[in-house]
Order: sequence, then structure tokens, then C-alpha cells
Amino acid sequence: MLILALDQGTTSSRAILFDEAGAVRGVAQREFRQIYPKPGWVEHDPSEIWSSQIGVAAEVLGRCEVGPRDVAAIGITNQRETTIVWDRASGHPIHNAIVWQDRRTAPLMDRMKADGSEALLRERTGLVADPYFSASKVRWILDAVPGARQRAERGELAFGTVDSWLVSRLTGGKLHATDATNASRTLLFNIHTRQWDDELLGLFGVPRAMLPEVRDSSHVYGEVTADLAPGNVPIAGIAGDQHAALFGQQCRRGGMLKNTYGTGCFMLMNTEGDAIASSRGLITTPAWSLGGKLTYALEGSVFVAGAAVQWLRDGLGLIESASDIEPLADSVEDAGGVYLVPAFTGLGAPYWDPHARGVLVGLSRGASRAHLARAVLESIAHQSADLAEAMEADAGLGPRTLRVDGGASCNNLLMQIQADLLQAPVERPVVTETTALGAAFLAGLAVGFWKDDDELAGSWTLDRRFEPRMSPGHAAEQRRQWRRAVERAKGWAEA
Ligand code: G3P
Repeated sequence: MLILALDQGTTSSRAILFDEAGAVRGVAQREFRQIYPKPGWVEHDPSEIWSSQIGVAAEVLGRCEVGPRDVAAIGITNQRETTIVWDRASGHPIHNAIVWQDRRTAPLMDRMKADGSEALLRERTGLVADPYFSASKVRWILDAVPGARQRAERGELAFGTVDSWLVSRLTGGKLHATDATNASRTLLFNIHTRQWDDELLGLFGVPRAMLPEVRDSSHVYGEVTADLAPGNVPIAGIAGDQHAALFGQQCRRGGMLKNTYGTGCFMLMNTEGDAIASSRGLITTPAWSLGGKLTYALEGSVFVAGAAVQWLRDGLGLIESASDIEPLADSVEDAGGVYLVPAFTGLGAPYWDPHARGVLVGLSRGASRAHLARAVLESIAHQSADLAEAMEADAGLGPRTLRVDGGASCNNLLMQIQADLLQAPVERPVVTETTALGAAFLAGLAVGFWKDDDELAGSWTLDRRFEPRMSPGHAAEQRRQWRRAVERAKGWAEA
């Protein structure tokens, strides 16, 4: 028997089969369209999300010659915050999905900040007043589509994050459900009471009738009726992708943290039963919900990480493919005093400065493309170190081992730089598909495929551990220079 994980990401849909040892038995992946109707707007077609996701699921099952009877359960993990509203009766979306990166509702969130609503949002949801999260996007759709608000009030429309949308499609519209991690990214969910919050619903003008039921992350939601596996394959796990990665990385105890290196970076630290309110620009978020109990985490996101490598390749043409960056950056001992702050779309946590823009400082006549490549890698590690330091300070902890995953975690030089700047070990597991693995674990636990946590603990295997090699004094000096560079990036677009 196997577990099928559906990993619905921002740029591609993936389906991965895992066996009892937590090893990958097959992967299929398909990219889908990114729609940019206006500057700062980002949409997906929900039917393409669905068709690409069901397509890769069928593909991986076919390729591995696995029939529905061999699938013990399905786990879903997904890009978070992205907002879909559909007609309950027909199952048709009434608008394209508004993607988490979309900034169209910034004026609404600015007004809320000016009204003094931010403290309430922070206290109830653990989030900041930012268009990143779903609530203002739902509001926008209800305002923009004629008649939508009335239909929503009559209970004819459903709102969901991508997990809910997939569950609805997989069950032929029968189920409208989500898990606590996805619910917590909407700005409508009280992370202390674990309920949708009427006051927040009122603030955003979102009718309660359109919301999904919130369940545990590890829970038998229902059975699939779609063509893929009609009959009796249960959907048994749901979690937002970064939460699933924390679970897949086996960060089960307080103080354990992981960083996922993708287009951006997402770092989460398990804080067990404590919803720690950050005083350093991080957000407080459920890590997962198991057996009716929430585990919490602190989270920070870096907007531009792997995207800086793409910029080096596509914007500057300094490398031909992303993997060229490692040997090029490794051909010099250091960045020669060059610092890049890739604040191309502002700065995320812990700075939250939408007006920051990229800066390149410290150039001398000797600066080469190799120094610039190295500065790009260092910028990813510095931004991640900013998050780790903020987390450790918020949680009152010293430097911790960082578990890593995501595409760029295979870059050994980047991982070494990360350990050097953190002055703490960095550990990379053998399976870096930790997002999908986390969703598989959650689903497998719910159906007894794995008995309990203890059985899972053995499935995390170390691929490589990076110990800091740089002296503490040298690392502190690099961190100091980085912070000086960040100061120069801040507020640039405001003037
Ligand atoms: O919060 C957004 C995040 O969940 C997106 O992750 O991996 O799809 O870019 P990813």
C-alpha cells in the first residue's frame, strides 16, 4: 500500500507516491498558467489548478502501475492564502483564484491599519494586516462580481483556499472543508478558540455561510468520487505547504525549526502549545492540528530567495542555468565586500517594508561576476539568518540546528554559508520532498498506515550536516555589514 500526496504549489501541481518507509516511489509534476491581469495582480484559473492536479495524480498512478486499491489514503498540501469562490450547486468558480502574491487589496488593508484594526487582527489571528492573506481577497471578489454578496449571504457560494477547492472537486462537490493551518491564513480564523471569528467576518464583510468546516490536519475528510479513484480512497490529511514541510521534517518538539528554500524562503519554528506573539515582525500560526489539539509555530517569510538566482540568470545573464551559481560563487573565497539586498518586491519578515527596493553595495573595481554570484547566495542566507535570529529571540532560545529543504537546499555552498552565518548546524535530510511527505504522514496517521509518531520518527534520515566553519567574529562582522546594507534598501520606493 502507498500514500498519494497532492502538492498543489504556486507554479506547479505535483503528485508523489510514498511507501511505508517514507521513500518516494513516484513523482509527476505539471506547471500551469500564471495570469497577470494588471501590475501587482496575480491570478490562477481554478479549473487549471484542478485539471493539472488530477492530471499528475493519474499520471503518477499510471506510471507506477498503482491502482486505487493500492492507495491507502490521499494527503493534500497546498499554496496557502490563495482565494477561490465558487457556486455550490454547479461547482463553477465565479472568478479566477486570487493568488497570495496579489497586491490589489493593499488600499483596503492600508485603510484597516489606519482604522486601528491591526491590533485586533494580530491578537485573534496571529497575522499582520497585509493583502497577502485571504480575507481582503474574498471581500474583493464579493464586491467585484455582480450579485455575489447576496448569493453568498443566501449560502449559494462557497469560499475556500486551494485545499478546500481540491476537496470539493475530489468529492464531486459533496464536501466543503479545510484544516486549521489553511483556515489560519485567512485573517478570519481565531487561532486561540479555533473558530471562525464573527467580529473579523463582520470587519471584512464575509458572510459565514460561505465558509468551509474546519477539521484536524490528520482526519478522514471523506472519500474520493472523482474519476481518479472512485469509491473508497479516503482524503485523510490536509495542511498548508509550509506547515506540512515542518511536519515532514519531523520538527515535533518546541524550538525545532526548518527553512524551505524556494522562490522565497519560509521558516517555521515549532512552539508547541504556546501561541507566541512575536515582537520582532514574525507571525504566529498553527503548525498543525492533531487529535483536536493545535500545535503552534512562529513563521517568517523571505520574498526573494531563489528568485534572486533567477534574476542573475534571466535579468543579468551572468549564468546560464541556476545550478551554475554554485561553482561560480565557489571560485572566490568571499563576496569581496559586495552585498546584495534583493528587496525587489519590498522586504518581508522581519522588516515588512513594501517600499524597500534592491540595493547592491560595496562594489570596488575588483568586483567580478563571481563576487556577485556569491553575494546572491549570501543574501539568501542572511535573510534566513534574520528570521532565525528573530525566532530565537521571540522564543527566548539560543542558536538552533536548522533543518532545510526545497530546491536550493541541494546547493552545498549555500548550506555552508547558512551554517557559517547562523553559527549553528544545518541539516539536510535524504528526502527533501518534505512538503509532500508531511501531507502523506498526516494522511497515513489518520488511516493507521503509520501507527503513531514514533513510527514516523525513524523515517527522517540525514543526508548531510553542515557545521559552521567561519569564526564567530567574522560571522558577526558579516551580519553587521548586511544590516547596514538592509538599512540602505529600506523605504527606497517611497521617496
Ligand atoms: O504562503 C504562500 C506559500 O504557501 C506558497 O508556497 O511553495 O507554493 O511557493 P509555494
